[in-house]
Amino acid sequence: MELPRCELVSWEMVERWSDRLEELIRGADRIPGVLVGLTRGGWVPSRMLADRLGVKKLYALRAQHWGITATPDGKAELTESLHAPLQGEKVLVVDDITDTGESLALAEEHVSSLRPGRLESATFLHLTHSKFRPTYVGEEVPRERWAWFVFPWNYWEDLRVLSRQAAGSPADVSAVRETLRERCHLDVPLEDVRRALQGA
Ligand code: ADE
Repeated sequence: MELPRCELVSWEMVERWSDRLEELIRGADRIPGVLVGLTRGGWVPSRMLADRLGVKKLYALRAQHWGITATPDGKAELTESLHAPLQGEKVLVVDDITDTGESLALAEEHVSSLRPGRLESATFLHLTHSKFRPTYVGEEVPRERWAWFVFPWNYWEDLRVLSRQAAGSPADVSAVRETLRERCHLDVPLEDVRRALQGA
């Protein structure tokens, strides 16, 4: 299995994208009445936006990915519907990233069937090759800069998957750390690799 190039996302970057989205949404005078966060990736971003925009109505919609860490063609599927009173509401759907754009496109389709008065979307990161462009974007990433973005809320899961892929058997923790550094551009503490391999 090919190991992907990764970018480790810091909380500072998360704060910056949240601020940027707030600025864009306020600037457009489009404060939503309801936020819908796609879980799991959009859970933290939607909560941060709810805080910044002062939105009290926050719902989660589960978008499931049929794929594993760093397979950009992983298929998305909505396995559960949203039971929330959205009729006539100004709704903003939030996710962490649009890569293929499939999750967000599916989510918008589903949310629009609940007859909102307005429907917009926002993501922290938008890969410009995505087939779906959100209304608001924290940062655009051109195709050449494609990476697997290791968000703070997915750190251990990603590290477990990547460490397992990088490990020979028996796994040598230092060798795995070095492989992650060289092949994934992921520089993480040795202790984290050890912990990830234990939990893998
Ligand atoms: N989910 C879909 N594409 C992703 C990427 N490139 N990085 C992190 N999470 C993703």
